[in-house]
Amino acid sequence: NAVQDKDVLAKTSADTSSQPKQPKVKMDTNPPKGTRDFYPEEMRLRTWLFDQWRSVAAGYGFSEYDAPVLESEALYTRKAGEEVTQQLYNFVDKGDRAVALRPEMTPSLARMVMAKKGGLPLPLKWFSIPQCWRYERMTRGRRREHFQWNMDVWGVAGEEADAELLSAMVTFFKKVGLTSEDVGIKVNSRMVIGEILTELGIPEEKFAATCVLVDKLEKVPLDAIQGDLEELGLDRSVVERLTGVLTVNSVEAIQEILGEESPAVQQIKKLISLCEGYGIEDWIIFDASVVRGLAYYTGVVFEAFDRKGVLRAIAGGGRYDKLLETFGGDPTPAAGFGFGDAVIVELLKDRDLLPSFEASGVDTVVFAMNEDLYKASLDVASKLRAAGQKVDLILEPKKTKWVMKHANRIGAKYCAIIGSQEFENGEVAIKNLEASEQESVKIAELEEWVSKQ
Ligand code: HAM
Repeated sequence: NAVQDKDVLAKTSADTSSQPKQPKVKMDTNPPKGTRDFYPEEMRLRTWLFDQWRSVAAGYGFSEYDAPVLESEALYTRKAGEEVTQQLYNFVDKGDRAVALRPEMTPSLARMVMAKKGGLPLPLKWFSIPQCWRYERMTRGRRREHFQWNMDVWGVAGEEADAELLSAMVTFFKKVGLTSEDVGIKVNSRMVIGEILTELGIPEEKFAATCVLVDKLEKVPLDAIQGDLEELGLDRSVVERLTGVLTVNSVEAIQEILGEESPAVQQIKKLISLCEGYGIEDWIIFDASVVRGLAYYTGVVFEAFDRKGVLRAIAGGGRYDKLLETFGGDPTPAAGFGFGDAVIVELLKDRDLLPSFEASGVDTVVFAMNEDLYKASLDVASKLRAAGQKVDLILEPKKTKWVMKHANRIGAKYCAIIGSQEFENGEVAIKNLEASEQESVKIAELEEWVSKQ
């Protein structure tokens, strides 16, 4: 049979060769829908943004960690009806394992903490900049992959941790030139919902799913989620009572509903008072309608937004004290936020706050005027590089005019030209492109020359 197949194959290929040539089908050069290529220009912007994030995280004493982008699907199979679990990029691998590209970092972080079986010294302050994957409907600032700055504190039960996280966010905003007139951070506590559910006699196990449902109400009318409501076994009147309370937007009004002794009210007051301590109160707005869409938040939740109201949420986070328990671990308080790379870049563009980058960062272009001198150019480039310069070596024979144009285009500061006469004297001609001056420098003394620049 195999022999026969081979014959058929041979015949087929012979047949095609005798046919007239088919026009070549060009490959689609777009990356998969919702994903991005990072050409050097975009990559420079991305690196700049990550540098700002890393520098803020370092300023708050956070350590960087990472995890695989591919995780076990079971890490995300929560049953509270969250959007994120319905947007999984999941598949079965060749070993029959159900896996998924991470849609967010928090479950991986919980897995990592749990794997150490209490062996990590708490409190733990960690940050990461993972690429996350969600099969989303695309809008401005929402894609199918994004990078998300995460800062998380584990092991601190008080609002001190939440306030520290809010302060880090504000430090970042200020660092990139945004003010409290551009950006606000809405804060709330899910304990408000918790207290109302308790008052109405709704069992605790419905808490997470109710929060997810209430969050959906921001986007869709109550009628559209009637089915979800029934599935949850919630009376429409419960949801109406909840939405009534959540439209309140002052701490005093919430206090009137829940009473002064209410732990939710105490929590919100404490958080706001700590924000005053950081001097970031101008950025903070209490807003009872902020619930966030993830099931695991238990207490304080917050969301950074563009005050002009044009863009989607810039960042979001909150306290998730029970996540580890749902994985079978010991109760460990935790809080954190995720801050995407898409919306913030849109906002900085709108406000004309994106930095302009030097084209390439190259210090010197090194160029041999003829092929016999090429080896000498390698020595010059190596010496400059060893002295710490960024060197672009011209790898092919080119005309001097081309090299000068190229050096200008990439924004290099110098051009080192190896010509026969200078080389005979053990020298290289170095042109300062900004000052349009030229000098001869001994090849043996290049390191000294670099140190003087
Ligand atoms: P999240 O609210 O799902 O939270 O996402 C956090 C942020 O990630 C959003 O505010 C947005 O900036 C960005 N983001 C999310 N989805 C997309 C998307 N499709 N395209 C572009 N940007 C997006 C979380 O993921 C939590 N794990 C955050 C957290 C960390 N909570 C505690 N620790």
